[in-house]
Amino acid sequence: MSSPMGRSRLLAAVPQRLQSLEQTLRPATADPRAPPPLRELSPCPLLAPGEKQDAAGLPGPTNWPLLGSLLQILWKGGLKKQHDTLVEYHKKYGKIFRMKLGSFDSPREGEDWQRVRSVFQKKLMKPVEIMKLDSKINEVLADFMGRIDELCDERGHIGDLYSELNKWSFESICLILYEKRFGLLQKNAREEALNFIAAIKTVSAPVAQLSCGRFMDLSKCASWCTLKSCINSRLEKYSEQQPAADFLGDIYARSQLSKKELYAAITEIQLAGIETTANSLMWILYNLSRNPQVQQKLLNEIQSVLPENQMPRAEDLQKMPYLKACLKESMRLTPSVPFTTRTLDKAMVLGEYALPKGTVLMLNTYVLGCDEDNFEDPDQFRPERWLQKKKKINPFAHLPFGVGRRMCIGRRLAELQLHLAVCWVVRRYRIVATDNEPVERLHLGILVPSRELPVAFCRR
Ligand code: HEM
Repeated sequence: MSSPMGRSRLLAAVPQRLQSLEQTLRPATADPRAPPPLRELSPCPLLAPGEKQDAAGLPGPTNWPLLGSLLQILWKGGLKKQHDTLVEYHKKYGKIFRMKLGSFDSPREGEDWQRVRSVFQKKLMKPVEIMKLDSKINEVLADFMGRIDELCDERGHIGDLYSELNKWSFESICLILYEKRFGLLQKNAREEALNFIAAIKTVSAPVAQLSCGRFMDLSKCASWCTLKSCINSRLEKYSEQQPAADFLGDIYARSQLSKKELYAAITEIQLAGIETTANSLMWILYNLSRNPQVQQKLLNEIQSVLPENQMPRAEDLQKMPYLKACLKESMRLTPSVPFTTRTLDKAMVLGEYALPKGTVLMLNTYVLGCDEDNFEDPDQFRPERWLQKKKKINPFAHLPFGVGRRMCIGRRLAELQLHLAVCWVVRRYRIVATDNEPVERLHLGILVPSRELPVAFCRR
């Protein structure tokens, strides 16, 4: 989820080619449209001697001394608009192109990383495990509805919607992880909650390094203690309870993870999961406000599945294909994470090109979503496109949670939170656009709106 800027020998690719990179992960029933697996390069059997198919032959923007392609990106609108510049480059140079951006690396998968990830993966990526969390998510959503009522002015406008959505997301994930309410959706949020948010922000830099497998001494960081005490208090409670009684306790009991590994992983989950989820909810509210017919159709579906006043449960969502299509469409048009990166740990052949070890590959989700080859009328918000039986969408053209070994571990949880949240909000409010001026996307680590969201919440 990192920005590619400041990094070296970067290749931007679209997944028709890149899917081969993740070939080993695909099930036996993988998409038949996928190309043959990626091959190692020692020596490359495909390249005849003298053939100009090495990475240097790739097209791309001007590579200036020292600054590489960075200067041009800065000149074209700066880092905040880098996603748009990359769309332009893809149009100009094709599906795979080359940029040089200074020196950097992207996360690599060591043994420690794999061990920690697999523990969390068993719980977070299993649908049955995630479905069990619906009542906790609903508990927070019920409070969030009260919070919206309280904050709306007479026109249905909420002052700092982004911050409120982040509080919702934070409260929700903390209830899941720690079985604890922080009270962020109450009028006067408890001091403990505010300290906790500050702690998460402070430790974010070193924790980002933990995810790369480079463990640091976090004990020197004061905020780390706040996080540790939260996790410890949960583990102490757990020791008095049955195993599997809660998320964190269950993970600790079943794994060989040290407490330090547990602290780091939990903190990373919080960092990776809070703002991305809040931001995705914000974008879908925006897209629904600009498309009232879609919103009405969605409301009809929700009402046809749920009797009035009945809380939506995870099982109910199985009967709501249009709701799921709305979220997919929103994440296509306005993804929170516009690109992901990988560093090659060995030389490879990708498509027609031989790439050396150490090349950083960038998979551009945002570009994929705007590409007419993948989506007809890509600028339009049309959830129906995901439901048509005749014209199937290439699954590798929509990767808002990444792909392969490092794909988002919280995908299922995020989707459950977002599906339930949209159910609650749309049932209770008409989301109305308060103006029709464009809202641009800015890259600030994730793609955020360029201005306060022009939406109002009108009670139905
Ligand atoms: C809509 C919300 C979310 C979006 C759009 C999102 C997107 C992503 C993306 C694009 C990646 C990088 C994947 C790759 O490199 O291939 C990622 C990684 C990650 N996400 Fe999410 N995410 C979301 C919610 C969550 C939630 C709720 C959690 C936690 C429960 C979470 C935990 C993580 C973690 C721990 C990683 C790093 C995985 C690794 O490197 O092994 N994410 N996410």
